Amino acid sequence: MTGGAGYIGSHTVRALREAGRSVVAYDSLELGTAAAVGDAPLIVGDIADRDLVERTCREHDVSAIVHFAAYKNVGESMQSPTKYFDNNVAGTVRLLDGAVAAGVGQFVFSSSCSVYGTPAVVPVDETQPIDPESVYAETKATVERVLRWYDVVHGIRSISLRYFNAAGASFDSRIGEDWTFALNLIPVAIRALLTGDRELQVFGDDYPTPDGTCVRDYIHVDDLAAAHIAAIDHLASGGTTTAVNLGTGVGSSILEVLDAIEAVAGSPVPHRIVPRREGDPVATFSDTTRSTDLLGWRAQYGLKEIVETAYRWHQSQLDAPQPD
Ligand code: WQD
Repeated sequence: MTGGAGYIGSHTVRALREAGRSVVAYDSLELGTAAAVGDAPLIVGDIADRDLVERTCREHDVSAIVHFAAYKNVGESMQSPTKYFDNNVAGTVRLLDGAVAAGVGQFVFSSSCSVYGTPAVVPVDETQPIDPESVYAETKATVERVLRWYDVVHGIRSISLRYFNAAGASFDSRIGEDWTFALNLIPVAIRALLTGDRELQVFGDDYPTPDGTCVRDYIHVDDLAAAHIAAIDHLASGGTTTAVNLGTGVGSSILEVLDAIEAVAGSPVPHRIVPRREGDPVATFSDTTRSTDLLGWRAQYGLKEIVETAYRWHQSQLDAPQPD
């Protein structure tokens, strides 16, 4: 599992081990922490290190690769396209070469609903046009196309999972998202509430939505972890290469998210309405038909559990002894 020490990766490592599956985490630790993988074996390395990938796959008798490792900051990608194409695309090609050399035939890819850009129709299903609006999203769409060719040429079959808005944390607050790097709404809002060191900027309340703020499909990270196990099983049973949306099918506005956080925290999120952010779709949420029909998976949790687990996790991190 590449990126196994990261946010969604660490939750998926844990879910696989709790399901009795053998898993080896492979992570450069550039953005992840070794502790996040728990007692799973960890290989510290770069996805572009083709030989180390091949050696790791052979030594651990890897049957499937789950590929989370990528840079994912949309804003940064528009400042540093080379960094994003080098790591997210070229790095994945090198990873695939190592996998093919080791005879790995199944590959689960961490893709993104951002490959659709601003969807013309919501809920969004997998037949919608691919129209990335950022370098980050372009890297995800490009890897999906590379994967289709690696199936044609090398027979490695893959499932590209197009996440909507990943959020939340483990229910026991043992693992969660590191808000140091996070720019996403929920960690930023909770940080504003818990530390008070900055207020949340709400990017626009003049959208054509019920309360004027953008609508997104927030999906619990444990639901995403379960979907990856379903995708591994689907490929193991002969599933062919394809892409699947992962969302709850429910859209929530920013103000609804802030209300949900206030309901858990007992105090409001300090925030200010500022002008719209360039490139933000008005509303996007998933059509869940294919994820249910193909993977037999559906999200178990909603906004309430997402906000409760995220809040408890971030509060526990604040209470933990801070490094000197
Ligand atoms: C959510 C909403 C913002 C921060 C993300 C990832 C993308 C993909 C989908 C995985 C928007 C608003 C946010 C803030 C705000 N996931 N917002 N103030 O842009 O929907 O996309 O999920 O691959 O890669 O980036 O997520 O959390 O940035 O924004 O008002 O400080 O919250 O305008 O409407 P986004 P986000």
